[in-house]
Amino acid sequence: MADHKPFSPFPFFALLLSSLLLCSPMGEEGRRHAHEDHGHAGPAPRLQTFVISVQQPESATFAGHEDRERWYRSFLSENAAADDVGMGERRWVYSYHEVLTGFAARLTEEEILGSLHLHSATTHSPEFIGLHTGSGLWGGGATGGRLGEGVIVGMIDSGVTLGHPSFNDDDMPPPPSRWKGSCQPPKFCNKKVIGAKTFISGSDSEKATPADDDGHGTHTASTVAGSFVKGANVLGNTYGTASGVAPHAHLAIYKVCTGNKCQASDILAGIDAALADGVDVLSISLGGTPGLFIFSDLIAVGAFRAIKKGVFVSCAAGNFGDSDTVINDAPWILTVAAGTMDRSIVASVKLGNGSIFQGQSAFQPAGFTRKLLPLVLPGANLSDTAPAFSCKPEYLVGVDVKGKIVLCKGGRGILNFDKGTAVLKAGAAAMILMNAEFQRGTTAVSAHVLPASHVSFSDGSKIIDYFRRSNNPTVSISFEGTKLGFSSPPAPEVASFSSRGGPNVMDTHILKPDVLGPGVNMLAAWHSPVGPPSVNPDSRDDAYFNMISGTSMATPHLSGVVALLKSAHPDWSPATIRSAIMTTANIRDNDGNRIIFYGSLNKTADVLAIGAGHVNASRADDPGLVYDLVPTDYIPYLCDFGFVDDTLKPGLVGELVNCSTLPRIAREQLNYPSIAVLLGKKSPTVAVNRTVTNVGEADEIYKVEVEAGGGLAVSVVPQTLRFSAVKEKQSFTVTFSKPGGATELSFEEGSLRWVSDKHIVRIHISVVIDLLE
Ligand SMILES: *[C@@H]1O[C@H](CO)[C@@H](O)[C@H](O)[C@H]1NC(C)=O
Ligand SMILES: *[C@@H]1O[C@H](CO)[C@@H](O)[C@H](O)[C@H]1NC(C)=O
Ligand SMILES: *[C@@H]1O[C@H](CO)[C@@H](O)[C@H](O)[C@H]1NC(C)=O
Ligand SMILES: *[C@@H]1O[C@H](CO)[C@@H](O)[C@H](O)[C@H]1NC(C)=O
Ligand SMILES: *[C@@H]1O[C@H](CO)[C@@H](O)[C@H](O)[C@H]1NC(C)=O
Ligand SMILES: *[C@@H]1O[C@H](CO)[C@@H](O)[C@H](O)[C@H]1NC(C)=O
Repeated sequence: MADHKPFSPFPFFALLLSSLLLCSPMGEEGRRHAHEDHGHAGPAPRLQTFVISVQQPESATFAGHEDRERWYRSFLSENAAADDVGMGERRWVYSYHEVLTGFAARLTEEEILGSLHLHSATTHSPEFIGLHTGSGLWGGGATGGRLGEGVIVGMIDSGVTLGHPSFNDDDMPPPPSRWKGSCQPPKFCNKKVIGAKTFISGSDSEKATPADDDGHGTHTASTVAGSFVKGANVLGNTYGTASGVAPHAHLAIYKVCTGNKCQASDILAGIDAALADGVDVLSISLGGTPGLFIFSDLIAVGAFRAIKKGVFVSCAAGNFGDSDTVINDAPWILTVAAGTMDRSIVASVKLGNGSIFQGQSAFQPAGFTRKLLPLVLPGANLSDTAPAFSCKPEYLVGVDVKGKIVLCKGGRGILNFDKGTAVLKAGAAAMILMNAEFQRGTTAVSAHVLPASHVSFSDGSKIIDYFRRSNNPTVSISFEGTKLGFSSPPAPEVASFSSRGGPNVMDTHILKPDVLGPGVNMLAAWHSPVGPPSVNPDSRDDAYFNMISGTSMATPHLSGVVALLKSAHPDWSPATIRSAIMTTANIRDNDGNRIIFYGSLNKTADVLAIGAGHVNASRADDPGLVYDLVPTDYIPYLCDFGFVDDTLKPGLVGELVNCSTLPRIAREQLNYPSIAVLLGKKSPTVAVNRTVTNVGEADEIYKVEVEAGGGLAVSVVPQTLRFSAVKEKQSFTVTFSKPGGATELSFEEGSLRWVSDKHIVRIHISVVIDLLE
C-alpha cells in the first residue's frame, strides 16, 4: 500500500449537512430566491462546483435534453445561467438525466446561500496504492465456463490504456445489442472496451480523451475484466498468465479522475452516462472521507438510481485503517474491504548484529551485493517524527549516503516512489523503507527505482534501535524472489489500511464493510513502465504491469465476481447477488484459523473489519438461500432517519415520499444479509425479521445454528425452514436479549447459519449493548 494517501479533503457546507441536501424541494420558492441572488455582487466571490437537485413538477415534461437544460438554467441567476465568463470561468458544468433531476454549476456561496439547497461537489481522490494476482483468482470458470460473457461493467475511474494486451478483444463477442454507449473518440473502442467517455469538468472537452494518465483506472479495469495475457510481469518477476476476474466481460470506461483527483460532479456525470448507456455493474474505487451522511453522499445518490435500474454497485470501503472509517456505506452498495494473498516477493534485511527481517520489493536486482553496507538514517539526531526521517529530498542534501543503505520512513505526504528517487539521486546503494506507525504492518511489493526493501513499522523500529545502539551500523538486503502459497504468514489477512466499521456509532443499523477481497500487492495492467529506467524489462509491446494495494484493488475483484454471477444467473437482482457473495464468504484463512489482522500476532479480525468474510466466487454461485431486496424496500429504511416535515425529498430516491403515510419500520428490519442491533435500557429486547428466498433445490430443509459471544441470548423462530419450490420465500424472527452481567457499553458479534445437507447460509450478527441508552 505504500503511501496510502487515501482521499483528498472533503470541503463541505454546514448548510448541506443540516438540510438533507439532495432532497431539496425546488418549487417556486427556490426559483424566487435564486433570482433574488441575481445582481448581488459580492467582493471577489469564489466559484465552487455545486450539484443542485431540483424537484420536477408533475406537470413538467421536456421535449428533450435541451429543453430540460433550459429549465435547469432557469433556477440560476442570469449571470450564472448564461455561461457568463465575467469571472473568467464557465459556470455551467453538467445536466444530469439518470442519477438525479438536477445539474452541476460553478457558483459562489452567495449565490446559493438561502436559496438553492445544494450539495457541494467535493474533490475526491482515487486511492493510489496497492498491488494483484497474476492468474485471476477465479478467472478459470467459477461459474461453469461463463467468464462474464454478455455482462458490461462500467468503470468510474481514471480512464484506460487502450492498446495494452489486457484489453485486447481476440476472444470477445460483439457488445450486446441492448448497449447504447459509445466511445469518444470512436477509435478508443474494441469488443473488450465497448464504451469510453471523459467527464473532467474544466478541461477542454475536445482534447480530453479517456486515456489513463494515472494507472489506477487501467489497473482496476484489467482486474475486473482483463483478457488473458501470458507472461505478465513486473520487472522480470513473472506470474504466468494474467487475467481479470471476468475475462470475457465487456468494459465501459467513464474517466472522471485525472492527476489523482476526482470531482464529485464529474463522478456523478460518469454514473449518469453509464446508466443511460446500459451497464450491468458499476465498479467505483473512489470515495470521500468517512462520516458522510447518506443523503449528502453523491456516490450513494448515483448508486441508488443504479440499483433502481437493476445495476449492481460495488465500492471501496476506504483506506483509513481505524475504526469508524468506512466510506461508501449506503445499504444498496456492496462495500469492499481489502486483504492479503498468499504471495510475497521477498527482500530480506539483515543487520550487522545478525537479525533478519522479511521485507518485500518488486524490483529484484540479480547482481546486488550481499555484503553488509553502512546504514544511514537521515535526521538520526532529530526526534523520530522529524520530516528528515521520511527522506524528504532536502534532508538528503549534504548527507553522505554514497554506497550506503538509507532508512526512510513512510508517509508525510511523500510517495514511496519519490522517496526512492530522492535516495537514488543522492547516490545511495539501496533503501530500506519502513512503515510509519499509522501504516502498521502491511508492506508493499513496489517497483522501486533502486534496490529496496519495504518492512513493517515494528521491524523498522528495531532497525532504528539497532542503528542507535551500534557504533558501526551495517545492513544488507538479499533478494529472494517470489514465495507463493505459503501459510506463514497465513492468507488472507486484513490489510492494515483497510477501513473498519465502528461499534460506537452504529447509526445505520447496517454493518459495513460487507466483504473482504484481495487488495494487497495486486498485479494488474499499468499505463507506463515502472521501476528503474535501466531495468526496463519488457518494452516488447507496452505490456506494462504494476503491483499496487488498496481497497481500490479489492473492489474490482468483487465487481468481477459480480459479473461472473450475473452472467451465470441473469435473473438475479443486485441484492440477490450481494447476498450470495456475503452468505458464502470465508471467515477462515488458508490454515483453517480465523482471519487475523496483518502483523497482529494472531489477533482475530472482527466483523467490523471483514464483514461477512473473504469472498469465495465458486460458493457464491450456489448459495442455497438469499436475502433479497427490491429498491422500494430501502424507502422505509430511509424514512426511519426521521425528518422535520416527514417527507423524503426526491434528491436521493428520485421521488417525493410522504413517510407518515407508510408503516414505521425500524432500520434494522431491512432484509440485509447481516443483522446489527442496539440493546439498551429502553430496549433490552429487540426482535428482527428476515425473509429468505430459495435459489437452491426445490426440496430442501434448513435448520438454524446460532453462535453469539458475551452470553447474549439469541432465539430464532422457527428453527426449521422447509422449502418445496424454487423462489419460495420464508420468514423468521430473531430475538436478542441483553445478557445479565452486561457492562455499560460492549460489543458482541456472532453468526446465524441456515444449514441443509447441501448448503450453509451464514450471516453475521452484531450487537451493541449500551446500558446508558
Ligand atoms: C549526529 O550528530 C553527531 C554529533 O553531533 C554527528 O557527528 C553526526 O554526523 C550527526 N548525524 C547526522 C546523520 O546528522
Ligand atoms: C539486533 O539489534 C536489535 C535492535 O537493538 C535487537 O532487537 C535484536 O535483538 C538484535 N539482534 C541480535 C541477534 O542480537
Ligand atoms: C499464531 O498462529 C500460528 C499458527 O497457528 C502459530 O504457529 C503461532 O505460534 C501463533 N503466534 C502467536 C504469537 O501466537
Ligand atoms: C471456495 O469454495 C469451494 C467450493 O466450496 C471450495 O472447494 C474451495 O476450497 C473454496 N476456496 C477457498 C479459498 O476457500
Ligand atoms: C403527509 O401525509 C399526512 C397524512 O396523510 C398529511 O397530513 C401530511 O400533510 C402529508 N405531508 C406532506 C408534506 O404532504
Ligand atoms: C416480524 O414477524 C412477526 C411474525 O410474523 C410479526 O408478528 C411481527 O410483526 C414482525 N415484526 C416486524 C417488525 O415486521
